[in-house]
Amino acid sequence: MNTVGDLLRGLNARFQAAGIDSARLDARLLVAEILGVEPLYLATHPEIVVTTQQQTAIEVLAARRESREPISHILGRRGFWTLDLRVTKDTLDPRPDTETLVQGVLERRPDRQAGLSILDFGTGSGCILLALLSELPLAQGLGVDQSPGALAVAADNAVRCGMADRARFRQGNWGEGLSEVFDVIVSNPPYIPDAEIATLEPEVARHEPLTALAGGIDGLDCYRVLVPQMVRLLVPGGLAGFEVGAGQAQAVAAIFATHGFHDVDIAQDLAGIGRCVFATR
Ligand SMILES: C[S@@+](CC[C@H](N)C(=O)[O-])C[C@H]1O[C@@H](n2cnc3c(N)ncnc32)[C@H](O)[C@@H]1O
Repeated sequence: MNTVGDLLRGLNARFQAAGIDSARLDARLLVAEILGVEPLYLATHPEIVVTTQQQTAIEVLAARRESREPISHILGRRGFWTLDLRVTKDTLDPRPDTETLVQGVLERRPDRQAGLSILDFGTGSGCILLALLSELPLAQGLGVDQSPGALAVAADNAVRCGMADRARFRQGNWGEGLSEVFDVIVSNPPYIPDAEIATLEPEVARHEPLTALAGGIDGLDCYRVLVPQMVRLLVPGGLAGFEVGAGQAQAVAAIFATHGFHDVDIAQDLAGIGRCVFATR
């Protein structure tokens, strides 16, 4: 019989050999999942004996991770902001960097009792919209995506997070056919330059939807389409906020300025990279 300590050491070595940066953490997450305990509990209880049945179940998950399937797809969930969200192969795995966009909106709209209407273009798992609604209890919002699979996950997440009464979802090509106006529009659109897709980590290149990643030759195609639509869909004085790729912030700021937006500013992520661009209609 193996102990938790034996198992974690073995999985850590295998995941490292497979080129996984987060080998130790991922090993702990998978073992914790099967044992039904908190991951941190394992760190302090390496002596726990793992049954043969549990080992078999862990091995199934470990083989998937070794082949570089994202940990969130294996577990079926990802923590984002304060929310525990369901994710699938149809959704982008919500990234910690994207929390910069949520935080940036809340800093620019600090009244938590405001009854804002929020539009989230390319909502994916619904992470940005639901995080904002969780902080703004009187706000309501619409998440748009072209992917029916992603929208089903987003709608399910709204129910799980207790916000189904304030979050609507709509299938569409960005703002086509939309006639209502919003106080805030956010988006984390696909922004990876096409030529870079093949160079991404296997978890991303092989397992995340291409339509959530590819942003055209220079990665900026979606911003060029979305900014003019935001002029039409924002109230005067309304706030627009984008996540952008590393090195894209100035170019996106220039697109906003070209379309008459003011107070254009850039927010950095925790690594000091210009990660979001905000502008006022
Ligand atoms: C980078 S992902 C962002 C997902 C989620 N908002 C997040 O931050 O994790 C971009 C999303 O835009 C959606 N998308 C791509 N092109 C679209 C289009 N023309 N109209 C609507 N949604 C689109 C994709 O399906 C994908 O869910």
